Amino acid sequence: MLHSKITGVGMYVPETVVTNHDLSKMMDTSDEWIVERTGIKERRFFKEGEDTVSSMAAKAAAVALERAGKKAEDVDFIVFATLSSDYNFPGSGVLLQRKLPFRQIGAVDIRAQCSGFIYALSVADQYIRTGTYKTILVVGSEVQSNVFEKSDRGRSLAVIFGDGAGAVVLEATEESNKGILTTRLHSDGRFAEELYLEHPGSRRKERFNPDMMENGELLPYMNGKLVFVNALKYFPEVIREALADCNLKDSDIDLLIPHQANARITTAVQKEMKLPDEKVVSNIDRFGNTTAASIPIGLCEAWEQGRIKDGDLIAIAAFGSGFMWASALIRW
Ligand SMILES: CC(C)(COP(=O)(O)OP(=O)(O)OC[C@H]1O[C@@H](n2cnc3c(N)ncnc32)[C@H](O)[C@@H]1OP(=O)(O)O)[C@@H](O)C(=O)NCCC(=O)NCCS
Repeated sequence: MLHSKITGVGMYVPETVVTNHDLSKMMDTSDEWIVERTGIKERRFFKEGEDTVSSMAAKAAAVALERAGKKAEDVDFIVFATLSSDYNFPGSGVLLQRKLPFRQIGAVDIRAQCSGFIYALSVADQYIRTGTYKTILVVGSEVQSNVFEKSDRGRSLAVIFGDGAGAVVLEATEESNKGILTTRLHSDGRFAEELYLEHPGSRRKERFNPDMMENGELLPYMNGKLVFVNALKYFPEVIREALADCNLKDSDIDLLIPHQANARITTAVQKEMKLPDEKVVSNIDRFGNTTAASIPIGLCEAWEQGRIKDGDLIAIAAFGSGFMWASALIRW
């Protein structure tokens, strides 16, 4: 039976560090408010002309490929998770395809926001299980710093998000009880407008008009409290669904890498699942919420820090815009 196994991990974050103090010079906020509500101390902002979603992905992918002992030519397919593609179309997958010496392989973009990386991983996993492809590059990359207004009007969202990219190489393996054991995906579109960016969309006669800028209609909207409450419910639920698939329990988890939405959400999930600190990855203090990039960045850091050993059970889980939520279990 074919399974898919992660054989290389990589990440890239832009050089520019923006602290809460830096933000408090641009808007009415404070380090205390941001740390208390979100756990974030600093985040990275991309540099125009140097970083793009696809260029950051290429840097993370190059590291992942090298660690997997693979060349770009060996890759059979690209699955790219992002909500902040370089262009409205085409997607970022093809822009990544031309940045490294890949063959003319298929490249698909996944739009599942904070759950994007797990959705991407599950798509790649199916192609490997069916024997269609042997080596797939899965990436999550985001530029968020330019979608929020760095002003009093935009402060509730501007302080939460950051830029960065992470990538994994997924390869076919016949080793039993190794690699991706299960993936679980969910959505509930009734909540689509509770965390969304309406424009430029195709619903209206004019996709864009100058008033939209003035009225703040080009800014994302988030019902923070509703997102918070639902995240607390669905994070443990979707992780336990995956554990049940494999006849495993909370205490079998060696490392939980949750999407870095908010440190308070991570702490609550950790408490609910009774996991000690050393079994939970939290790096939101340094990177903020990097949406589809946060899980592969967390995975890469944990691997680099020696927190992942052969045979460990890794759980990844996410909740976000859609609402969409997802989990996966990986036996390393
Ligand atoms: C966003 C979030 C941190 C806001 O925290 P909160 O306690 O709900 O705060 P509120 O939105 O109720 O705002 C409280 C007050 O702080 C103010 N405020 C909002 N943003 C602020 C900022 N950056 N700095 C200072 N004050 C701010 C509000 O205007 C409000 O003031 P008021 O009481 O005078 O009206 C919280 O709702 C949250 O974490 N939600 C989950 C979001 C998430 O994880 N999103 C990622 C998607 S996966």
